[in-house]
Amino acid sequence: MENTQQFINANKQRFLDELFDLLRIPSVSADPKFKGDVLKAAEFLAEKLKVAGMNNVELMATDGNPIVYGEKIIDASKPTVLVYGHYDVQPADPYELWTSPPFEPEIRDEKIWARGACDDKGQTYMHVKAIEAMIANNELLCNVKVIIEGEEEVGSVNLNPFLEKYKDKLKADVVLISDTSMIANDCPSITVGLRGLSYMEVEVVSSNRDLHSGVYGGAVANPINVLCEMIASLKDENKHITIPGFYNDVRELSADERKGLNSSPFNLEEYKKELKLTEVEGEKGYTTLERTSIRPTVDVNGIWGGYIGEGAKTVLPAKANAKISMRLVPNQNSEKISNLFAEHFKKIAPKSVTVKVTAHHGGEPVITPTDTVAYRAASKAMEKTFGIVPLPGYEGGSIPIVASFESILGLKTILFGFGLDTDALHSPNENYGLFNFYKGIETIPYFYQNYAEMSK
Ligand code: BES
Ligand code: MN
Ligand code: MN
Repeated sequence: MENTQQFINANKQRFLDELFDLLRIPSVSADPKFKGDVLKAAEFLAEKLKVAGMNNVELMATDGNPIVYGEKIIDASKPTVLVYGHYDVQPADPYELWTSPPFEPEIRDEKIWARGACDDKGQTYMHVKAIEAMIANNELLCNVKVIIEGEEEVGSVNLNPFLEKYKDKLKADVVLISDTSMIANDCPSITVGLRGLSYMEVEVVSSNRDLHSGVYGGAVANPINVLCEMIASLKDENKHITIPGFYNDVRELSADERKGLNSSPFNLEEYKKELKLTEVEGEKGYTTLERTSIRPTVDVNGIWGGYIGEGAKTVLPAKANAKISMRLVPNQNSEKISNLFAEHFKKIAPKSVTVKVTAHHGGEPVITPTDTVAYRAASKAMEKTFGIVPLPGYEGGSIPIVASFESILGLKTILFGFGLDTDALHSPNENYGLFNFYKGIETIPYFYQNYAEMSK
């Protein structure tokens, strides 16, 4: 890997310049007005895969945004790594809260500031450049296939049919993904658990039109009040979720497992300080680390209704809405939980309103094993470049496709993330450390080397 590492060192500035070009493309998948840019980002990456020396590079059509594909088969007897990433990003609103504009990347404090800097353009691009470096120096020791999708941030709804359709083409031995965080730059970690997701939308309606709040107030149900009461009742005084059956399938960790999880470096005071929290809150009997990793949640993501314009309007609104997400843990099932929620939410509605519940996308929780060749290869790679053995860690976010890689392709995944929780993913001022970007590019080739070596 000597030559590969030298190549990386000699091309650092170019790698960064190219990432900046990618970050300038506002590939927001949630908003149709960015459709053209989403396509541009896909084309940009296809071009870079070609430049990297990959073969059979193409944009593969789906019912939504295309998937960028490329491969380099060096020797059929060698193991094959399937790299996954996403080129779509979350919306950047509210723009006014960004110190520098979200799609005009810049470096400050040794960090890249832009939407997608970490999630997931910065992390995906590390792979493109590591692959380029290995191919250029004849030091690629595994076969590699790359898929980069454009709908991760909207639930990857077209990826399952894609995996089904191209099972043969995507044949591999392991999936490698950089789309998660490490504990800290001086405490590398490999993610071994992700939460699942159920995402619901609810509507509460009382009257057939908005009403005068003086004429009707007090006699007609106010759907906003009702919705708030219903939402409030989803947790009890211990912040335990009240939906019947919700915890039935939750795997409780053993005392030893909990001790291990809680021995990860974590400083509650720093955590509060970084977020300017006056206090944390969550399910009684569990630590903050547990609450954000191995315990399920219910959260309102957005709520609307009534008058929110200038001044005051005295009105009894006819309806109220909310988007509610639940993060799930092993062995909960997204469809089952969505159904439990819908049933419960309709049941707790007072007679004075009608309630509509619809399910959006979801995803299953995952646990990835540590007793595999691939995990040991990843661990050894990080040990080599950080000088520290990485800790296995559970994370609270979701990457729904990981469960599908296992159920459809029969593949285990290595969650080889180089981000930090403080990178402000999905928030204004998203950023990614230059240290992290370059450390990722440096570390990835060692994974291939170790994996080829250890698979013999
Ligand atoms: N990369 C994140 C997931 C993530 C972030 C995992 C940090 C672990 C640590 C991914 O892009 C993401 O945001 N996923 C969504 C999934 C949803 C849109 C189905 C999420 O978790 O909200
Ligand atoms: Mn991501
Ligand atoms: Mn994301």
